[in-house]
Amino acid sequence: MQITMIGAGYVGLTTGTCLANMGHDVCCYDIDSRRITRLERFDLPIYEPGLENAMRRAVDVGHLRFSSKIRTSVSEADAVFITVGTPSAPTGGIDLTHVFSAARQIAPHLKRGAVIVIKSTVVVGTAQRVREMIARERGAFDIRVASNPEFLREGSAMRDFAEPDRIVLGADDARSRRLLRSIYGTFEKIGIPMVVTSTGNAELIKYAANAFLAMKIGFINDVADLCEKAGGDIADVTRGIGLDHRIGDSFLQPGPGFGGSCFPKDTRAFAATGRQYGAPQKLIETLIARNDQRKTALARRIVKEARLAPGSKVTVLGLAFKANTDDVREAAALSIIPFLREAGMRVTVHDPKAAFNARAHLSDVTWSDCPYKACKDAAAVVLLTEWEEYRALDLARLAKALSGDFLFDYRNLFEPRTVARHGLRYASLGRSTVFTRQRADVSSLETWPRRIAAPGHI
Ligand code: NAD
Ligand code: UGA
Repeated sequence: MQITMIGAGYVGLTTGTCLANMGHDVCCYDIDSRRITRLERFDLPIYEPGLENAMRRAVDVGHLRFSSKIRTSVSEADAVFITVGTPSAPTGGIDLTHVFSAARQIAPHLKRGAVIVIKSTVVVGTAQRVREMIARERGAFDIRVASNPEFLREGSAMRDFAEPDRIVLGADDARSRRLLRSIYGTFEKIGIPMVVTSTGNAELIKYAANAFLAMKIGFINDVADLCEKAGGDIADVTRGIGLDHRIGDSFLQPGPGFGGSCFPKDTRAFAATGRQYGAPQKLIETLIARNDQRKTALARRIVKEARLAPGSKVTVLGLAFKANTDDVREAAALSIIPFLREAGMRVTVHDPKAAFNARAHLSDVTWSDCPYKACKDAAAVVLLTEWEEYRALDLARLAKALSGDFLFDYRNLFEPRTVARHGLRYASLGRSTVFTRQRADVSSLETWPRRIAAPGHI
């Protein structure tokens, strides 16, 4: 089948490449012609493990091409996927400008009977609005509009495409339904569940899924706070609840507050849709506020707990909103670092992949290309992204580089006793802070963390 992706970003590029490797003929079009020129040279504008090799394979066999010419990109296509960004609007809702302008651009060039498939995350009713707009532009109702929301995660997009939990096919007519089924026929054959539904339901499913996942994270972050106060251990608590299959053990990792290009904007949009329809999503409204507060609270905790005087050097390891991506959109680092700067700290930062993107958002920080060099003479280290490189840090070397001894690990990458053994004071999430100044003395930690404090002793 001839497929065109409108928008060669994370979603357009990864799904386009994967569809091409399934045997479809795919053209990735982007309005940004420099991006297309780079893609033609396999100079990828994003870091996504496995993507470059998959792209090269698809191009080599002639199933994938890139273009910045709208007419030739779409005129032969059976299916045109819209994969442009849907950023937050100032009101908290969603800005659909890119979706509508993409629809307007492609309208005159579509062949009769083509199907537009909206893959961008859009609010309920958008497919219907695009359908009306296309009909107006063409003066005919010959184009169908379907919805096929995307559930991939950055950093594991290739695997997520190959092993989806389900595929949601939103169609309001038989032709679109048939087309979507034939695109994803291979998955159906191997037993991947297909949710075949209306476009409106597909749109609602996408937001409800992201809102629920974000809520799991918000919930566990609040439970982690309670564990810290009550002397509990979040790892045992999450294992204890996660083994209940009705709860499940995924997305229960405490962190510095969820970030990225999706959860923050999609929860805001979901809440705005609820308000608009008179069905307030109070849980999500609270979640959004709690997540924002968390980033500030964790920044404040660094200054307070390590008793940092203005002028102290703090090193931040990790700028990406999660590991295995160079994306910094709404990353915790972008809230925590400005707070530290405001509090008068000197901040040095390191990230294995995201430093380039972070430069546009951070000023007055020192950039380092080595975590150990970054930590030299720092009073405290703050770990914000769970990169494998950080998990493998040589703590002895790290401790030696520091002038202070505080490690704030907001991803729980280490065992408290291991860190304490290196003479570091270790503040992680959902576990008591380990105070030890004696490099070899871990005897006092033997009972940690199973000492549960009575509320009066907190
Ligand atoms: P992105 O910002 O990485 O890419 C969007 C691309 O669209 C850019 O390259 C931009 O130049 C291009 N574009 C904008 N207007 C255009 C137009 N009129 N014609 C052609 N190209 C145009 O965005 P993304 O992260 O890929 O997200 C796209 C959509 O998918 C969003 O709605 C997002 O919520 C959703 N989504 C994203 C992810 C993810 O992990 N990033 C996962 C699932 C769903
Ligand atoms: C998320 C969803 O997981 C995807 O299914 C969805 O397709 C995508 O949004 C989207 O709609 O764009 P993504 O933003 O790439 O994917 O990353 P996640 O792995 O979900 O992480 C989001 C944020 O939550 C990160 O800041 C991450 O560190 C945080 N997180 C995640 C936690 O703090 N704890 C967890 O247990 C999981």
